[in-house]
Amino acid sequence: MADILTKIDRHIRDLRLASPEELKALFDELRQVFDEELAGALDPDSLQRLRKRWLTGRESIRQRALDHWLKVESPLRPNVGQLWRELLADEGYIAQKLGKPQEQWRVATDEAALARERADLSLPGVARPLGSRHLLRQTFAEIERIFLSLGFAVVEGPEIETPYYNFEALNIPEHHPARDTMDTFYLETPRENSSGPPRLLRTHTSPMQIHTMEKQPAPVRIIVPGKVYRRDNPDATHSYMFHQVEGLAVDTDITFCEFKGTVEYFVREFLGPKIRTRLRPSYFPFTEPSVEVDASCFVCGGSGCRLCKSSGWIELFGAGMVDPAVYGFVNYDAKRLSGYAFGLGVDRLSQLKYGIEDVQLFFQNDVRFLRQFP
Ligand code: FA5
Repeated sequence: MADILTKIDRHIRDLRLASPEELKALFDELRQVFDEELAGALDPDSLQRLRKRWLTGRESIRQRALDHWLKVESPLRPNVGQLWRELLADEGYIAQKLGKPQEQWRVATDEAALARERADLSLPGVARPLGSRHLLRQTFAEIERIFLSLGFAVVEGPEIETPYYNFEALNIPEHHPARDTMDTFYLETPRENSSGPPRLLRTHTSPMQIHTMEKQPAPVRIIVPGKVYRRDNPDATHSYMFHQVEGLAVDTDITFCEFKGTVEYFVREFLGPKIRTRLRPSYFPFTEPSVEVDASCFVCGGSGCRLCKSSGWIELFGAGMVDPAVYGFVNYDAKRLSGYAFGLGVDRLSQLKYGIEDVQLFFQNDVRFLRQFP
């Protein structure tokens, strides 16, 4: 750089010896030096320094030209003036290239950003892992589909209940042994509510039988999917939070036959057309008669295997005809109305259908398990 300036100085001093072509070549060289410096100025500070050195500083090259080069007496002076204007004047090449410092910087960063962000359309896309519905949700959906096709409506209810709805109105008075089989989580009663009834986490979906019959007159045909809670020790078939689907049908002429037909239809739809059903006497305080529904073992077909413990039958769920005592709690006319109810353990049904050995797998969110049920 110093070289070229000295060369120009010397030529300007000896203008008599110089030719217009030589002068032009020198100014071209000067422009080249500027171009190189501009290419290397990549941030606002460097650009600012460049501006000062070439145009605005007290020792700038433009100032040097004004002080020395333009003041010579010579026939070539117009040529110097012309070259000066082209390169160093306000509208000259350098001023145009540098522009306003901020603008320069913006253009430079925009170009850098564009270069960085240019999309390479030939790159393979990113494969995002797809989620799927949890197996229990799939089981719920399947159960709902079957009962919707039979004209049942789906309703939901609260998980926090009072003993009245969870027990009393279902014909389970205090000290009834059936309360022991559903060891219950009670909630702390808030002080402002200390005069109200105790509250608990429902141990089954059956309280929705009462809520529904309190709200609407017969006929009733509902299923109630939901979560329930019991103080059971977790193992391969028990957890303290699990899922049930309650069913209730009440009308003027519902018979045990209709109940049996509905249950058989559900089991066949859910487990397959070859499955046979049997009803075993059982006991629930809110149904009379009460039954346990068994299905013929869908693994061995009834000949006996590990799943059915060599019995050929698998216990599926509890059910029965609504006990007339329950109608008394909801002001239904027990002489005119009859009905049936059932309580499906969704986790257990899902385990059976899909061969899940441990119910805890449902709640561990292990993707190796979840991926098997897309
Ligand atoms: C009941 O809960 C009754 N409400 C069912 C009913 C409704 C009968 C309407 C008659 C009429 P039970 O306590 O047997 O019944 O529970 C029903 C189902 O829940 C069981 O068959 C079982 O599949 C499931 N179950 C019970 N305890 C657990 C548990 N700790 N973890 C997972 N599933 C459970």
